[in-house]
Amino acid sequence: MAILFDEEIIDGKKYLKICPSSEVFERVGKQVHFDGSDDIYQVAIFRIENKLYCTTNHCPHQNAAEIFNGVLKGLSVTCPLHGWTYNIDDGSNAEPKRGLKKLTTFEIFEKNNWVFIEYPNIPIPRWRSPSGS
Ligand code: FES
Repeated sequence: MAILFDEEIIDGKKYLKICPSSEVFERVGKQVHFDGSDDIYQVAIFRIENKLYCTTNHCPHQNAAEIFNGVLKGLSVTCPLHGWTYNIDDGSNAEPKRGLKKLTTFEIFEKNNWVFIEYPNIPIPRWRSPSGS
């Protein structure tokens, strides 16, 4: 995987410098790709009441890269495809009757008018592994 962003070590932890703060708008999800060759490596970023949140961008229901495009209500995001809803703060599935799968969340913050996220270790799901196992 070729990371497309500058890396910065802060207190011994690796972070990625994603974009200027001015590019993350209030209540508008932002899709961020890390590697043009594999679309698994992407996250969704949100700004709600001027606080930032970062989650995986693939909906665990049918693995659509649509979380950034979801409908926001409070700290909930609803996938536009079939309506699964997640909490963007902890990634939890808001409707456990539909399934227990959740989003992964990542640390995110602003420094000197730039948005940083922790290095996102996104595991390759079984359905995307070369052997399918
Ligand atoms: S793919 Fe998101 S709810 Fe189905």
